[in-house]
Formats: sequence, C-alpha cells, structure tokens
Amino acid sequence: MARLPLFDLSQVAGPLGELLRARPPLDLYRVLPHAPEVAEGFLGLGGAILRRSSLAPELRELVILRVGALSDAHYEVHQHRRVARGLGMAEDKIEAALADPASPLFDEREKAVLAFTDAVVRQVKAPEPLYRALAAHCSGQEQMEVIVTIGFYMLVSRLLENLELEVEDAQAAPLTIERAAAPAQPQPPEADPPRQLFAPALGRARPAGRLAGRRVLVVGGGQRRTVDADPPVGNGRAMTVLFAREGAAVACADLDLASAQDSVDWVRREGGRAHALQADVSKPDEITRLVREATDVLGGLDGLVLNVGIGNSSRFGTETAEAWDAVMDVNLRAHMLCAQAAAAVMEPGGSMVFVSSTASISPLSGLPVYECSKAALAALCRSTAYATHGQGLRANVIAPGLIDTPLGRDATRNRPNRAARPLPFGRQGTGWEVAHGTLFLLSSESSYVNGQVLIADGGLSISTVRQPEAA
Ligand SMILES: NC(=O)c1ccc[n+]([C@@H]2O[C@H](COP(=O)([O-])OP(=O)(O)OC[C@H]3O[C@@H](n4cnc5c(N)ncnc54)[C@H](O)[C@@H]3O)[C@@H](O)[C@H]2O)c1
Repeated sequence: MARLPLFDLSQVAGPLGELLRARPPLDLYRVLPHAPEVAEGFLGLGGAILRRSSLAPELRELVILRVGALSDAHYEVHQHRRVARGLGMAEDKIEAALADPASPLFDEREKAVLAFTDAVVRQVKAPEPLYRALAAHCSGQEQMEVIVTIGFYMLVSRLLENLELEVEDAQAAPLTIERAAAPAQPQPPEADPPRQLFAPALGRARPAGRLAGRRVLVVGGGQRRTVDADPPVGNGRAMTVLFAREGAAVACADLDLASAQDSVDWVRREGGRAHALQADVSKPDEITRLVREATDVLGGLDGLVLNVGIGNSSRFGTETAEAWDAVMDVNLRAHMLCAQAAAAVMEPGGSMVFVSSTASISPLSGLPVYECSKAALAALCRSTAYATHGQGLRANVIAPGLIDTPLGRDATRNRPNRAARPLPFGRQGTGWEVAHGTLFLLSSESSYVNGQVLIADGGLSISTVRQPEAA
C-alpha cells in the first residue's frame, strides 16, 4: 500500500494529465499529480534520459540497474530488468549489473562506467582514478549523461522507496542484489527486535559513506579456516567488507593470503576497493614491509585496525615460556609494532583500533596468556593515544564478548560450555556487530573518543543474560 493515495489518471486535467496518460499505467506516474508543479519537469528529464541521451541504451540500463541495486530499490530494479530484457540484454548480464559489477561479462567501458556509478552513489565524488577511467571511454557529453542518469535514478529510487510503491505485477522476479553477491556466506537469521537483531548485525545496513575517502589497513582481515561447512563471517572479514561499503579503500592483510583475497573478492563483487596483502605479524620485519606496502597501495594511510589475534590451549599450570611468547608476539607485540610503524605515516585525523576481548576483564576463558595479551591492549591503546594525539591521531580498543565467528566456533568446540550458558539477548554476537563498533571508532563520528575501551558484549560483563531457548 503506497504511502500517498494513487490518482486516477483519467481524472488528471490539463497538459500533465495528457503527459501521464501517454505513459504506461505505473503507480509511479499515479503519485506524481500530488506535486503537479514539479511533475512535468520530472517527466521531462526522465524522458530525455530514456529517449534523447547519447548513451548507448544498454550502457544506460546498466547504470540504472546498478543505482537501483545499490539503493535496494525493488521497484526500480524490477522495471529496468524489463527494459533491459526488451533491449535484448542477456539475463546473466542483467544479474551481474545488480550483483557483480566487476564481472568478466562486462567490457572495459562497461566496467569503468559501473565502477564510476558505484563510487558516485556510495561516496558522492568518484576518486580520480575512477573518473579518469570513465573519461577514457566516454565523451564529455556521455560523462555528463552518466552523472545525470545516476542522479536522476537515485532520486527515482528514493521516491519509490519512501512512498512505498509496490511492483504492480505480482509475478515480478524478486530482487536479488548484493546479498546474492556472496553465495559462500551463510544467510543470517531474520531481524528480531527482542533479540536486538537488526540490519547492521546481519550485515545488511545501508551504506552511508561513513569512511568516504579513507584508506584503512585491516590486519587479520581474512578469517581462519575451520571444519564448518558453512562458516559465519569472521570479525576481520566483516570489517573489510563493511569499511569498503562505507567508502574506504581497504588493504586487507593476513597470514593466509588466500583468505585475505576471499575478503577482497567479496568487496570487489560489490564494487568496492580493496587489496590483499600477506604478512606474518609475529615477525617484526614483515610488519615494516606490510605498513609500507599498504601505504603504497592505498596512496596513504588514515586508518589501522589490528584485528589479528590467536590463542593457545595452555591453562594455568601448563603454560610454557615458548607458548606464552608465541601468543604475546601476535596479540601484543605485533599491535605495538604495527601501531608504531603506522603512526609514522598516518595522516592527521587518522584513527587506530585494537581488537581485544572481554577475556581482558574476565578469567573465565581459563587461558591466561590470551586474557593477559588482550588486557594489555587497553594500556597499549592509552600509550598510543598519548603518544600520537599531537599528530592528530586517535587510538581505541574494541573488546568483543562471545561472537559467532570461525574462531568463536573453534573456541566452543574446545570448551562446549562457552556458548551453552545464558547469553545477552539469548544469542552470541555477530562479526558484523564487532565491525560496526570498530567502524564507529575508526570514523570521524568518534572524533572525541580517545584512549578508551568499547566493550561490545551485549551486556555479558554486567550479567544481562537470558536462556537461549527464551529467544
Ligand atoms: N570470535 C570471538 O568470539 C571473539 C571474541 C573476542 C575477541 N575476538 C578477537 O577478534 C579477533 C578476530 O577474531 P575472529 O573471530 O575473526 O578470528 P579469526 O581467527 O577468524 O581471524 C583472525 C585472522 O588473523 C589471522 N592471523 C593469525 N595469525 C596471524 C599472523 N601471525 N599474522 C597475520 N595474520 C594472522 C588469521 O589468519 C585470521 O584470518 C581476534 O583478535 C580475537 O581475539 C574474537
């Protein structure tokens, strides 16, 4: 049901009525008479884009489909799927415009136009390399028409969504856009307010350009391989994908290059910018190289997230010096050395985030070195914040609680009672929730937060728990 009543077009008088009756009987046209003074201009611009622009119709439809997909605008995508089919476009190409703008189905010109479209929708201003790629393939007139088409269909999609206009044809194919871009990822559960499960926790928040123009290095941006056939998203992968959706260029570093590349592939399928880098941060000289490579590939650095973290199985009484040092080297020394190397090149306004754990404030994991290494990150973040505030940098910690990631599942396999007890909101957290907390600390929204620890445990540390079956 549309939010505004639909006009009976046979009753609309004057030139506007004539214009509207000359078009197909779509609900979009039936709301326009609410604003007769702007309706004619709206129809005029839409008509010029569809009928008089110099853009090749197939290219124009790719732009429109992409804008519709990025805007999650079901109605617009539905209508322009039809238009594209009418032009003879292949079905797989139509679907690729919605879900995979870097698909090999597109030629170089189409890829350049689609990448430019993504940047304009997500970041307002497309960065120089994307503009240059567009200009290499399109005349000045075509460039103007691409930008006007993007802008007009952003307006159309927002109009359709806000007025809740529904597809008139009940047989319409369902919209499968970016969510379809990640078939390897398990489908998250549906939103569930009593359990505090909303779009951000499910990896479905609408991008808002919160990191537009930022260059971010995520260390530990892949995710571990586990026995799970259908693993949940890890914290580092969720961060890499979320930061790119929010407009950042991301260098995704991991010991496991293939895993970093999987995160990067996900970003690229969605039209974002990311680069995979390999490094073992237990080795100090690899840290120096990593920060240099990240700065080179991103063209500078203004964000650093140290997500990398490991554990061991040594309980009190069984710890050894070697096992202790091996964890400390990755969980604490690497964070210090990465922060130090990054601070030397980071630009004012930059932000660093260390990923700790509520194991830093609770002995229940029973793993002293994990708990100590994570606890020390609070002090390291204060040292870093204190040492770098004069440069205009900030450093903070996020301390997640029980999160359903591959690491979390491994931990539960080792300690089955880990996730069997009552939990906040009757559930574990998601990697997306950790990524959103980190996004806040990384972005300028947290500009006055420095040297602090954000505990993201749903309230576990204040015992706000409930039985999972009560969910
Ligand atoms: N999952 C949870 O319940 C939970 C809770 C609190 C904190 N955390 C913390 O969140 C972070 C990430 O957790 P996750 O669940 O996504 O884990 P994960 O194991 O999936 O991700 C960690 C990544 O770090 C990489 N890595 C490991 N050693 C490395 C090294 N020497 N050099 C470079 N990369 C290396 C791994 O390959 C992996 O891709 C960790 O710091 C973890 O301690 C997780």
